[in-house]
Parts: sequence; structure tokens; C-alpha cells
Amino acid sequence: MSFDLIAPWFQTLESVAFGNSLQHCRIACLREIKSPRRVLLAGEANGRFLSELLQLHPEVEVDCLDASHRMLELARQRINRLMPGNAARVRFLHRDIKSWVAPKRQYDLVATHFFLDCFPEPDLSGIIKKLSGVAKDDATWLLSDFRVPHSLVARLRAQSWLATMYLFFRVTARIEASELIDPTPFMRHEGFVLERQQLSQNGMLKSEIWRKSANAILGGAARCGVREGSELIGNRRDN
Ligand SMILES: C[S@@+](CC[C@H](N)C(=O)[O-])C[C@H]1O[C@@H](n2cnc3c(N)ncnc32)[C@H](O)[C@@H]1O
Repeated sequence: MSFDLIAPWFQTLESVAFGNSLQHCRIACLREIKSPRRVLLAGEANGRFLSELLQLHPEVEVDCLDASHRMLELARQRINRLMPGNAARVRFLHRDIKSWVAPKRQYDLVATHFFLDCFPEPDLSGIIKKLSGVAKDDATWLLSDFRVPHSLVARLRAQSWLATMYLFFRVTARIEASELIDPTPFMRHEGFVLERQQLSQNGMLKSEIWRKSANAILGGAARCGVREGSELIGNRRDN
């Protein structure tokens, strides 16, 4: 697997396919969390979320991990261009998350945006377990990704997009996954509770806030508000 080849075109491809929808999704919940001190961005790619995070939280220190050297370089260049001097607040870690020797309970915020969808099920559960292990006991996890909505037309649209994207990334980046695996059960298994879910693009995109909770491991119930766009539409409604 390597995103090096497509790194220079990644943002252009994203804009052509989805306009600014994915970026809206990445930052949709960013203003709703309390100010973090130590953050891990896993599979951050070219730094679009990173630059927003640094601007919003001037005190934050970030570990930005990615297996693609070129993606990390683009992220570093973005920060140097938009926020000169702020790259010093970021450690750029050129690592494969699967072999990364992770520090224990260091981070109060973990963020994975359009990253967990790169992995087949056996890897996904191990990666979520590893990321849970680096998160502090009351840590927040911001997660945005694709999802398959329930209603027929929206589901067919999402499935055709996903089939196209998996084909594209399997050929160009050699990702191992060939279908979207919902990370929700693995998150719950690691003791995370879904606090907020915001949907967009007819339910094809989700932006979520998860909180690590000892009660959840003991079987506590999830609190969850679900939104389409910016409108709160109730508890655990799906479409
Ligand atoms: C779909 S891309 C973009 C993700 C980006 N956060 C976004 O919001 O668009 C996935 C990123 O995850 C990185 N990645 C994929 N597999 C990885 C792995 N095993 N370890 C670390 N990074 C990985 C890729 O290099 C790429 O930058």
C-alpha cells in the first residue's frame, strides 16, 4: 500500500468528485469538542484537517502519522504556507500504523478521517484497538467516513461511489480493503460511546464524536444525537 503516487493529485481528485463535502465532514465536529492538548491524527494525508486544528487550538501539540512520505511532505508544506512557524507544534511520523509501536494513553484527542475505510476487517479491529490504547481514559475520537444509508436511492448512490473508489484506490494505492467495513462495533468494543453523529450528502458521509468511557466497557448505554446537515433530527435516526 502506498499513497505516494497519487498524493500530488489527491486534493484535486477529491474536489472534482466531492467538491468541499469531505472537508466539511472532517471539520464538522471540530468546534464541538473541548480544547485538546495532545492529538494523534492517523492517516492524515495532506494536512487539511491538521491546519484547521492548529488554527482553532493554538496550544495543541500534534502527532501526525501517515505511511506516505509525500502526503506528510504536503501536510508540512501546507502548514508552512498557511501558518508559518506552526510546523514546530507537529511531529510528522512516517509510519505504517500496523507496525507502529504505540505509546500508552498519551492523547486526549484521536482523529481518523477517511482512513479506517482503507482496511479490511481483521486489520480494522487491530487498528482501532491500537488507537484506543494510545487514547487517555476520557479521550475524544473524531471520526469521519463514508457510510451506506438505508433508503434505496441513497444506498444505491453510495454503493456505486464506494465501488468506484475501492477500485480506484486498490489499483493506484494498492489498499487491501475491497469494501467498506463499519467501525462502529469495534469502537464500542474498545469502550467508546458515540456522542454525536452528523450526516451529509443524503447520509453517505458521517462525522462523529466518540468518547472513551469506562462505563461503556461495563455496558453503559450510548447517548447519541444524529444530524443531517446542521439540523438536529433526533436520537439515533438513520436514513
Ligand atoms: C484515503 S487517504 C486520506 C485520508 C485523509 N485523512 C483524508 O481525510 O482525506 C488515507 C491516508 O491514510 C494513509 N494510510 C493508509 N494506510 C496506512 C497505514 N497502514 N498506516 C499509516 N497510514 C496509512 C495513506 O497514506 C493516506 O494518506
